[in-house]
Amino acid sequence: MRINEDTLLEGKNVVLVPYNADHVPRYHQWMASPELQKLTASEPLTLEQEYDMQRSWREDDDKCTFIILDKQRWADPNVPEEGCMVGDVNIFLTDPSDPSLGELEIMIAEPSYRGKGLGKEVTHMMMCYGIHKLGIRKFEVKIGLGNKISIAMFKKLHFNELFVSEVFQEVTLGLTVDEALRDDLLDNMDFMQEREYGKVRDCRNGAKPSIST
Ligand SMILES: CC(C)(COP(=O)(O)OP(=O)(O)OC[C@H]1O[C@@H](n2cnc3c(N)ncnc32)[C@H](O)[C@@H]1OP(=O)(O)O)[C@@H](O)C(=O)NCCC(=O)NCCS
Repeated sequence: MRINEDTLLEGKNVVLVPYNADHVPRYHQWMASPELQKLTASEPLTLEQEYDMQRSWREDDDKCTFIILDKQRWADPNVPEEGCMVGDVNIFLTDPSDPSLGELEIMIAEPSYRGKGLGKEVTHMMMCYGIHKLGIRKFEVKIGLGNKISIAMFKKLHFNELFVSEVFQEVTLGLTVDEALRDDLLDNMDFMQEREYGKVRDCRNGAKPSIST
């Protein structure tokens, strides 16, 4: 999706940036993990296919994706952005006849970053962005029945069970956006800041001490 190609969202512990080609090698390494393939119901791709996927996520109108960065590491301009990556978060517009329906996906790929509140923070940030920038009014998430942690997280975020597919061994959870939810998210997300990604990145790169030869 082009709408977020120059958008940076800054949270308390994370920074969300658009998925670009520089992120692909690390992303590809993550997705070689059989555990992550199982948890996210993904097929392994070649590096070439991963670059194609990144391009399609950037260009297609039905996919909005951000890379999750560790804000503390990112604050140090000497750490390359790829070295700050911890996961990704997506909204897919899965129903062409209903652009207000958004399917959420989140992955905290780095195991050492799980269980520290990042999943909840990022999901809230993405929901806020989806509601205000993409006009989402109903969120859905499909989760493997064995992924108890993800199911627990979305239930904690007030998602309800919509249906269970025995065939695909997955549950679909949903949440309708009403006024109360919008107000609640706004009240709790006043820390989130939106900035221009390109400017911030140039500034960060420019802040690196030059290497004297
Ligand atoms: C699922 C996932 C996104 C959760 O993110 P996280 O940063 O680890 O979760 P958080 O620390 O924000 O915790 C959110 C909630 O998840 C649940 N949770 C987290 N860790 C848990 C654990 N070890 N056991 C049980 N529940 C757990 C809790 O309900 C928690 O809420 P609480 O802290 O208020 O009790 C993350 O673990 C992940 O990406 N896993 C691998 C990929 C994946 O499964 N993606 C989801 C595909 S649908």
